[in-house]
Amino acid sequence: MENESKHIVWESNYLDKNDFDRLLGQKGCVLWFTGLSGSGKSTLAKAVQKALFSRTKYAVVLDGDNVRHGLNQNLSFSEEDRKENIRRVSEVCKLFVHHGAIIVTAFISPFRADRIAAREVIGDENFIEIHVATPLEVCIERDVKGLYKKALAGEIKNFTGISQAYEIPAAPKIEVRTDLHSLELCVGQIVDYLTNEGYI
Ligand code: ADX
Repeated sequence: MENESKHIVWESNYLDKNDFDRLLGQKGCVLWFTGLSGSGKSTLAKAVQKALFSRTKYAVVLDGDNVRHGLNQNLSFSEEDRKENIRRVSEVCKLFVHHGAIIVTAFISPFRADRIAAREVIGDENFIEIHVATPLEVCIERDVKGLYKKALAGEIKNFTGISQAYEIPAAPKIEVRTDLHSLELCVGQIVDYLTNEGYI
């Protein structure tokens, strides 16, 4: 059967990223948090959004748990489905970064190849990888959602850090340690980076 998606032509816009960046007074980019479940990604993402809001910067949070309730509700935690999860999110990020938004993502995104693919879709200059490097023992100890207990008991399969790999980022632009530093300090680290690099 003929591939129907062959018959589509890219519709270009009258306005480009620079126009939206100028309108919003910021450079659209993605703050890509990666780290284990319970490492603090969601808390940080929300706190960074709030800190940016108070500086009148426009930031959107995309959180793994929430995106999996809607857009990606048909995906599991197999390696293949995680790859698809990250691919779709990357494409969403790309669309909105080109409209000047600062997208703050909170996905485990455990596989290096998937994060590299995300960076390629979004563009290196727009992609700020942030490793939330909370050690596994601390995440197990926190176990806010009770998922590690279940994973260790074998009740949840393919659980990151327990029965599936987490590949540590080789060269993240920022590394934060929520187990050693306060939330305020970690947020400050990220806001300082955005300021120093001219994103805000
Ligand atoms: S990712 O690996 O595909 O990036 P994502 O961030 O979307 O993962 O979803 C992770 C969230 O799903 C975790 O915060 C946790 O609450 C929940 N979860 C359910 N099952 C698993 C699992 N097998 N591994 C990791 N997280 C899981």
